[in-house]
Amino acid sequence: MAILVTGGAGYIGSHTCLELLRSGYDVVSLDNYYNSSPEALKRVMKLAGKELTAYDCDIRDRGGLQKIFSEHAIEVVIHFAGLKAVGESVRIPLAYYENNVAGSVTLLQEMEKAGVHCIVFSSSATVYGDNDPPYVEDMPTGAVTNPYGRTKYIIEEILKDACAANEALSAVLLRYFNPIGADSSGQMGENPNGIPNNLMPYIAQVAVGKLSELQIFGDDYPTPDGTGVRDYIHVSDLGVGHVKAVAYAMEHTGAQAINLGTGKGVSVLELVRAFEKASGVNIPYKIVPRRAGDIPASYADPGKAKELLGFVTQRTVDDMCADTWKWQSGNPDGYKA
Ligand code: NAD
Ligand code: WQD
Repeated sequence: MAILVTGGAGYIGSHTCLELLRSGYDVVSLDNYYNSSPEALKRVMKLAGKELTAYDCDIRDRGGLQKIFSEHAIEVVIHFAGLKAVGESVRIPLAYYENNVAGSVTLLQEMEKAGVHCIVFSSSATVYGDNDPPYVEDMPTGAVTNPYGRTKYIIEEILKDACAANEALSAVLLRYFNPIGADSSGQMGENPNGIPNNLMPYIAQVAVGKLSELQIFGDDYPTPDGTGVRDYIHVSDLGVGHVKAVAYAMEHTGAQAINLGTGKGVSVLELVRAFEKASGVNIPYKIVPRRAGDIPASYADPGKAKELLGFVTQRTVDDMCADTWKWQSGNPDGYKA
């Protein structure tokens, strides 16, 4: 019995592969390495002291998927593969719909042919749109302001419809908040291409001198210090959450949306201060106007994950900063080196 991890070489996928191996599962990774490196999987195997099987494959490649399903007894698919840059999705929406939505339909069709009935899907808190936090899973979704977020909403709806049509299907829709951090070994971490869009990798690259100063997008939000508030969750906690979701998917049928977050909001300035404390490095910054599309605050109600998965985050914001710093300072060029 094996777990197929699409996007397995990616930031969250690689950390999840590590936690799956540590939990005793056999792991098969599928990735086209569009936004990752096979080196990440080598680090995973070294840290786990166990092998996994890696395929250089695209989720849109039916022949490649059929080969994987014929060569392995896949019990559950964890589906990370996708494009995820909000700004890029506004510029090239058709590429996002083709890769994320059409790719997911192809994957689901080949799963059905292969008799694989369990999927854990990488959704996002972005589907909550303009609701007020703390976000609860039964809130209305879909009022999303960018094509990337809409692909997540649409794939959730596809999975709900597929489960309604096939009573054997099990789909766990994990809505991540803001994953940051790195495995405590310092051997794996976030490895964004080009200038990071997200806050933590940007801070980390300022700290190692690759970028000169952080731009803080607005300090006039209705939040305690005026800067944006987010629910940051350690990527290793997220990996553990997926291990628990795999067990849940195998024991249940139907579609189930579950938040993966800490339930705590942290501001931009609070994260900067925490990173400075963890790294001992001053992070120069400048307050600039708000970024279009940003919301003041986003954080989870984590109660359903605790109730259904027995999942509670363990790592703190200080852990997230210390682990990020260990990775970034030891690997200033990511996996390229
Ligand atoms: P990532 O880019 O590091 O990982 C995605 C992986 O999928 C990459 O390795 C990429 O090469 C691969 N991939 C993309 N398209 C593919 C295709 N057609 N076929 C095969 N492989 C393909 O991103 P991540 O941060 O690890 O995110 C993983 C998933 O979680 C994504 O679906 C993302 O939308 C979702 N998510 C991420 C965040 C976040 O802040 N990082 C938050 C919520 C949800
Ligand atoms: C966090 C806070 C910014 C960068 C995004 C996607 C979401 C999900 C997670 C995929 C905000 C501020 C940021 C910077 C800053 N990804 N910031 N300067 O926007 O909450 O969520 O990543 O699913 O879909 O939207 O994360 O890290 O970009 O921003 O001041 O250089 O940091 O305004 O308040 P976000 P982020």
